[in-house]
Amino acid sequence: MSQEIKGFSKLSKKGKIDWLVKTCFKNDVKALHILKKYWNSDDSLQKLHDEFSENSISNYYLPFAIAPNFFINKKIYVVPMTIEESSVVAAASKAAKFWMNHGGFKAEVLEDEKIGQVHLFFHGKKKLIQEYFDFIKPTFFKNTQSITKKMNSRGGGIMDIKLIDKSSDLPGYYQIFATFKTADAMGANFINSCLEEFAKIFTNSIKLFNNDELKFDDIEILMSILSNYVPNCIVKTQVKCHVNELNSLEPNTPNFAQKIIQAIKIADIDIYRAVTHNKGIMNGIDAVALATGNDFRAIEAGAHAYASRNNKYKSLSNAFIKNDIFHFELKLPLAIGTVGGVTNLHPLVKLALGILGNPSSKELMKIIASVGLAQNFGALRSLVTSGIQKGHMKMHLINLLNKYEADENEKKLAQIYFKENTVSSASVENFIKKIR
Ligand code: MEV
Repeated sequence: MSQEIKGFSKLSKKGKIDWLVKTCFKNDVKALHILKKYWNSDDSLQKLHDEFSENSISNYYLPFAIAPNFFINKKIYVVPMTIEESSVVAAASKAAKFWMNHGGFKAEVLEDEKIGQVHLFFHGKKKLIQEYFDFIKPTFFKNTQSITKKMNSRGGGIMDIKLIDKSSDLPGYYQIFATFKTADAMGANFINSCLEEFAKIFTNSIKLFNNDELKFDDIEILMSILSNYVPNCIVKTQVKCHVNELNSLEPNTPNFAQKIIQAIKIADIDIYRAVTHNKGIMNGIDAVALATGNDFRAIEAGAHAYASRNNKYKSLSNAFIKNDIFHFELKLPLAIGTVGGVTNLHPLVKLALGILGNPSSKELMKIIASVGLAQNFGALRSLVTSGIQKGHMKMHLINLLNKYEADENEKKLAQIYFKENTVSSASVENFIKKIR
């Protein structure tokens, strides 16, 4: 049981740790040792990490892995992936290798528009607020120039601003709905700064409108924030090969290509399967997003909303056979960046972007989507052939052995034994008991 504390954030790092260890671990030094074990011996690096977040007391490690052989738009990439699930990188690498030998991924960014909204209330005449909006619209562009100047020079900026009447859904509710291009940045700070400025302009310029019908108090701004739903910021990636080539990959599974297509059809009609299917895609997408310092929560939220854009949650990927060619494709929204945020700060993120050849944000969209498609291919391949557990548990064996604190010799014996035997939590426990 924990207890309430006031002013925790004002405590020093040591003070926070002392409080935590006392409150949650009855002063057990083991907890303190674990926290300290993960501190970096380089003080300036540790300080950098501490300053990423409030109340930071240690570092949380995840594997920083590499998936080679991604052949995308005729360029070979080594892809950095940050993920704890043991089989994800292995599956991505295996799929990448297969598709490298079959023409690779063809990826394109279809659109790159971001969205932000000012949510407001106005209970007067619709015509009046529209007239006021039209009157003030040029000022939105003019008075945000100090924010947009740099972005404009990079080819981005505010694209359009509209007033949307939502009062039939919620009495008095309107939106200032703005679209943006943010060049190589994800653009959250840029968009939110513009929106907050629009909100100020909209309330403070009523006098200039000079119409007695509209009073200062008539407009109530509720909030200003970007949208993580970006259906006009879309990347598409695809692979294709002769159906016989795909079938020969799994000679023991008749009609392998058809089985992949059926698996996707099921995800299109059944939400329980669709969510898991898309989760498999997000395994790859999140891992690259995280390694490259991108906001994977925003990507997740946007991707799942996109999966239900036609009022039914469906697969994000698609497959079909046309003229004996198997086509496999993925289309999804990705609002990401290669500058800004932690991309210029976190040394491993900088390294990850370096591994990818310092891509533009559009190039990174293509890479991330292709890893998502590879991941989906890997998952479906296992599911419709040997089942997921074989590969998954093979990769997970080492984690189970570590759970029982197996030494190097025990691990060697286990690797030999489990070549022929099924890995499960129970079988590993039995094996350890037997050899000890
Ligand atoms: C596991 O992390 C991902 C899968 O469940 C995806 C899928 O079922 O398609 C294997």
